Amino acid sequence: MTRTLITGGLVITAADEIHADVLIEGGRIAALGTPGTHGWTADRVIDAAQKFVIPGGVDVHTHMELPFGGTFASDTFETGTQAAAWGGTTTIVDFAVQSKGQSLRAGLDAWHAKADGRCAIDYGFHMIMSDVTERSLKEMDLLVEEGVSSFKLFMAYPGVFYSDDGQILRAMQRAAANGGMIMMHAENGIAIDVLVEQALQRGETDPRYHGEVRKALLEAEATHRAIKLAQVTGAPLYVVHVSAEQAVAELARARDEGLPVFGETCPQYLFLSTDNLAEPDFEGAKYVCSTPLRPKEHQAALWRGLRTDDLQVVSTDHCPFCFVGQKELGRGDFSKIPNGMPGVENRMDLLHQAVVEGRITRRRWIEIACATPARMFGLYGKKGTIAPGADADVVIYDPHAEQVMSAETHHMNVDYSAYEGKRVTGQVETVLSRGELVIDKREFVGRAGHGAYLARGTSQYLG
Ligand code: URP
Ligand code: ZN
Ligand code: ZN
Ligand code: ZN
Repeated sequence: MTRTLITGGLVITAADEIHADVLIEGGRIAALGTPGTHGWTADRVIDAAQKFVIPGGVDVHTHMELPFGGTFASDTFETGTQAAAWGGTTTIVDFAVQSKGQSLRAGLDAWHAKADGRCAIDYGFHMIMSDVTERSLKEMDLLVEEGVSSFKLFMAYPGVFYSDDGQILRAMQRAAANGGMIMMHAENGIAIDVLVEQALQRGETDPRYHGEVRKALLEAEATHRAIKLAQVTGAPLYVVHVSAEQAVAELARARDEGLPVFGETCPQYLFLSTDNLAEPDFEGAKYVCSTPLRPKEHQAALWRGLRTDDLQVVSTDHCPFCFVGQKELGRGDFSKIPNGMPGVENRMDLLHQAVVEGRITRRRWIEIACATPARMFGLYGKKGTIAPGADADVVIYDPHAEQVMSAETHHMNVDYSAYEGKRVTGQVETVLSRGELVIDKREFVGRAGHGAYLARGTSQYLG
């Protein structure tokens, strides 16, 4: 069994910051010890002096190879998981998709086939339900049992992923009974589609109108409705990609009432705004995602939500489409721009920048990016922390390194960076996945197929 010793670093978890050496045996953390007192020997010693030693990031919202708007997200499981590792993320939970008329099983099998043998880091799946029927409701129980314990439903995208309130209610009833978590894309898609049509009729075709028609109030309304439906059924609810201040308020109210309601936001909503969507020469298309970027004024509520725990998780919703040939499908009609933005490589650094700027503490950084996402989706203990028995998914992070984010240097398979030219302090130096080096002093040494499928338990965040 290979023994690795990480010496001299500051070990940061959601709970603690301690100067400790970390002993890894095989794929797991064996022990933490006070430097200079333990006498441990190892096959490999990694010097982490002046560095942070943190759990690998857990990104519970990615879409590798997602079919959308007649094209596919440009990162495969191979390129996307490599990019994740470069950015200090060692676990992703991606979304398998049930197509209309298909079983959940067929969708899940298709996603296994895409990912199997290709990932550089460990991965699990949520299930997108786009056809809630008697059959798919029954299948939910089987999926929970085999480790797909969360189900995403859409109140948006009529005719594609959309479920009506009755279907949502039924899926929630099932989740309440089988221990599953309901994830919600909360936007009133029926109303939005009317506003889209009216905007296009007025000749409002530029990317910025994507932000104008997908109104904050329609995110808040859907969030409110989802909360009430969940309350009626007793199901836990996790609202994905929250961007509107008014939606945070809905979550805060529900949580004040003690309901099992949770919220996720993403770096793009914390750092970007409708100013980006308004960039000239169709450049705004790079920032088209749903929920949309909001006016800057919404950001304060998101940061506050992260501090007050009305929002618990920051994930990326990584769903990249190249500007050339993909985003361009929507020239002259913003509704044809594939929805989604790249970011799986940027999340840990952007949130560290928030630490540097005093917006969150170092422990909160690890909590929202590693520990809570793991706990929320049944991976905690194995993932999300540095403790004896946990998988040795460990990042050596240099908090003093300066970097400039750019498409020239990133590893995501996409021809632009949403953060082009942004200077941040802090950078990943070395990454281990189950004790094996994936990034070694900023060199990729991992391999496709190292990443293993994670059958997840039910949420550990509820009890
Ligand atoms: O625009 C986005 N978010 N694309 C990915 C699909 C989704 O709704 O999460
Ligand atoms: Zn120190
Ligand atoms: Zn969504
Ligand atoms: Zn998504």
